[in-house]
Amino acid sequence: MNKKPIIKFENVSLDYKEADGSKKSFNKMKTKFKKKIRSKLINVEKENKISKIINLTLLKEKNTLSLDNVSFNVYEGEFVALIGKSGAGKTTIINILNGRYVPNKGKIIVYNRTNLLDLDIKQQKLFRKTTATIFQHYDLIPNQKIIDTVLTNEVPEKPLVERLLKIYSKEEKQRAYEIISELGMLEQADKKIFELSGGEKQRVAISRAIARRDVKIFLADEPVSALDPSMLKVVMDMIRKANIERGITTITNLHHIEVAVEYADRIIGIKKGKIVYDGKAVDITIKDLKNIYGSSIEGLSQQQINHAVKLNKKWKK
Ligand SMILES: Nc1ncnc2c1ncn2[C@@H]1O[C@H](COP(=O)(O)OP(=O)(O)O)[C@@H](O)[C@H]1O
Ligand SMILES: [Mg+2]
Repeated sequence: MNKKPIIKFENVSLDYKEADGSKKSFNKMKTKFKKKIRSKLINVEKENKISKIINLTLLKEKNTLSLDNVSFNVYEGEFVALIGKSGAGKTTIINILNGRYVPNKGKIIVYNRTNLLDLDIKQQKLFRKTTATIFQHYDLIPNQKIIDTVLTNEVPEKPLVERLLKIYSKEEKQRAYEIISELGMLEQADKKIFELSGGEKQRVAISRAIARRDVKIFLADEPVSALDPSMLKVVMDMIRKANIERGITTITNLHHIEVAVEYADRIIGIKKGKIVYDGKAVDITIKDLKNIYGSSIEGLSQQQINHAVKLNKKWKK
C-alpha cells in the first residue's frame, strides 16, 4: 500500500458546547460555516429539537469532550472503518472532515500539505470538491430521475441554466449511462428516486459520488445501517470496489462490527471521544472489541470474526 497520508488528524478535540455556542470558537469560524451552523440551528429549532441537543450536551459526563485529542493518519487508497458505541464520536469525525463542524483544537493535514482549518473558504471548497459524503438516508432529490441525479453530479461545474435545461454533451450522457449500467440499473435510468427501494437509493447515491471525476475521498456515515442484509452486501461491495478499482480513499462509520472486519483495511475504535484501537481489520480480536464496546458485543463470537477476516482477505489487492 502507498504510504502517503491523505488525511492526518493531529490532536483534534471538539466540545460541542464550545463549537456551537461560545462566541470564541464561533467567531473563529469562517463565515460560510457560521451560516451553515446557523441554518442548522434554525432547522433544529423548527423541528423543535433544540432542547434535545442542549440536553445531549448537558447529559454528557463532566469534562468529557466529544472528541478528545484524537490523532490518526489515513493513507491514500485505504479503507478505514470507524467503530464504537453510539455517542462515541464517529459522526463527529466525519462531520469535521466534511466541514459541518470546526474543532476547538488540533490540526487536520490534508494531502500531506496543509492544515484544513487554516484554509480560506475558496481553498476549503477546493478540498471539498475532492470529497464525497454518503449519508445513511441518501440525500437525494425524490423527484429527480436516476439519470439526472448522476448527470448533475458528474458535471457540477455546469452553469445552473444548462443544468436546469438539462443541456449535456453526448459524451457526458454516455458516461452517466455507463455508470448507471455498472450499477445494474440501466433499465431504470428514467425512474424517479422516490420509486426506488432503500438499497437502490443508496446505490444511486454512491454512483452519483463515483461519477464526480475529482472525488478522491469517500466519507460515509453509517451508509448501510438502514438496509436489509442482502442490500447491505450489495452496497458495501460497491463502496469497496470503488475504493479498490478507483483508488478512492474511504472513511466510514459502520454500525455492524462484522461488516467493518469484512470490508475495511483498518479499523479505528473510538470510545468516549478517544481512540482505543487503531490497527488492521484482520488483526482485531474479541478482546479489542470488548474494550471498544464494553459489554455490548455479546452475541458476537470469535468464529464470526474469523469468518469476516476470511472474507476480508478476498479483497486484498
Ligand atoms: N449537535 C450536537 N450538539 C451537542 N452535542 C452533540 C451534537 N452532536 C453530537 N453530540 C454529542 O457528541 C458526542 C459524539 O456524538 P457522535 O459523533 O454523533 O457519536 P456517534 O456517531 O459515535 O454515535 C455524543 O456525546 C453526542 O451526544
Ligand atoms: Mg453517528
